[in-house]
Amino acid sequence: MGQMDNIRNIVILTGAGVSAESGVATFRGPDGLWEGHRVEDVATPEAFMRDPHLVQKFYDERRAKLKTVQPNAVHMALARLDAEWKGEFLLVTQNVDDLHDRAGSQRLLHMHGELNSALCLACDIRSAWNGTLADGPPCPACGAQALRPDIVWFGEMPYHMERIEAALAACDLFVSIGTSGAVYPAAGFVQTARACGAQTLEINLDPSEGSHLFDESRQGEAGTLVPEWVESLF
Ligand code: OAD
Repeated sequence: MGQMDNIRNIVILTGAGVSAESGVATFRGPDGLWEGHRVEDVATPEAFMRDPHLVQKFYDERRAKLKTVQPNAVHMALARLDAEWKGEFLLVTQNVDDLHDRAGSQRLLHMHGELNSALCLACDIRSAWNGTLADGPPCPACGAQALRPDIVWFGEMPYHMERIEAALAACDLFVSIGTSGAVYPAAGFVQTARACGAQTLEINLDPSEGSHLFDESRQGEAGTLVPEWVESLF
């Protein structure tokens, strides 16, 4: 990566690869399944309408699993970068786990929603949620038994897009970590950042679908490469 002295504003995008070393399964494994389910059987509004119980159970299990995992060196390094970086900084995560939050990241947006949140289909209010949803509990805000996982499913609009687009337009450095680059709009952030003049860096176990779009692509485990990269910035 060229001259780092000119970097003031940083945007980082993370995906499932940053939580892999904590023991959270990634989505696109070699067998093309998502923990034994096809993505379209659980992660779409249509799937939820067809079989709400299956979808609620699936996310209930993932929410329960959060209690058994811990932030790793990647989450810690990015939280430190956030705390110490004087310029603008934004961490955009596609992950619905709470590991960046637990590591202490502050300037953080969850663009695909959060497991520890429930969205009410009756009143549209998002409530913090740590328990199960499959048993049909009432919404804390309106009382309706109409809670769904607060996850952005395929075909739905990700959260915070205006703030993310503004940060991408103003950044000098865009870094993508642990994502396969298969899901838009996140997969297109590199092009937006580049078009606005940012340097771009990818850190991933293997080349992502959009590797060629980055100025530099580093391959390896994020748990090793990210702390090294953060260290090199200071
Ligand atoms: P994927 O499972 O598609 O990709 C994870 C990437 O992380 C892969 O390219 C792996 O090679 C890489 N990886 C795995 N272990 C790693 C490690 N230790 N260090 C570095 N990289 C590693 O996950 P995402 O790209 O996050 O959406 O998937 C994007 C979205 O698709 C998710 O947010 C999810 C899913 O549908 C929703 O839940 C709405």
